[in-house]
Amino acid sequence: MKKLVVGNLKMNLLTVAERDRYLESFQRDFEKKAKNSAEIVLCPPAVHLEKFVETLAQENIFVGAQNIFWEERGSFTGEISSLMVKNIGCKYAIIGHSERRKYFAESNEDINAKIKSALKDNLIPIVCIGESQTERKNGETAEVIMAQLNQSLSDVPISKITEIVFAYEPIWAVGSDAIPTSDEILEVKITIRKLLVEKYGASAAEKVRILYGGSVNSKNVAQVCVEPQMDGVLVGRESLIPNEFLKIVSLIG
Ligand code: PGA
Repeated sequence: MKKLVVGNLKMNLLTVAERDRYLESFQRDFEKKAKNSAEIVLCPPAVHLEKFVETLAQENIFVGAQNIFWEERGSFTGEISSLMVKNIGCKYAIIGHSERRKYFAESNEDINAKIKSALKDNLIPIVCIGESQTERKNGETAEVIMAQLNQSLSDVPISKITEIVFAYEPIWAVGSDAIPTSDEILEVKITIRKLLVEKYGASAAEKVRILYGGSVNSKNVAQVCVEPQMDGVLVGRESLIPNEFLKIVSLIG
């Protein structure tokens, strides 16, 4: 299975000039560094999706949305449907990022509806799950992860499960500089895999990619991805620096 490196650019690249500079340096550094390595998915703000698809999409680079809505069309001011994202050439969509859960009160039920919408439109969902600092301190990590998974996967059939990518993102590690040990990551990966085996059987569960996300950089990628044998990483801040992002890609490729 090819490793996957997702760049979540969040609410950045504020001008056309800034966006174009990013794209130029990404292309330049990609040619030098990361060709033939891990699969790359870049998730820019929605206003830049089309330009990213036009400029970067190729065999090994895909574009994804940072969020989608579950309805296809209609009176949902401000929302963007999975079909719209698919129709402009995206292949992936991040669903249930902890910042969406925190600032927009997204629930596991919302996330379930978004996953089903993405799957219906042939977009690959990158589903984020993870515990808070308090939950970890209270020893509730496995319980929280299992509840998030069970609720978000309600009515997702076995024929679709291998299309979903999961990103284990401890909330306390996102946007901070704290990271879990590789044993802690491995433990959560086993919890996720076990639940998928119980729900969908071993042969489907083994094909599901499980990433790590939260303060990933080129210096800690061995600890958070290589050692716990994750299938890739989800990168926030460092994805804004193409050179650094592509260094991560080449280290795990
Ligand atoms: P970070 O963000 O790498 O800046 O911690 C991670 C994320 O958005 O999931």
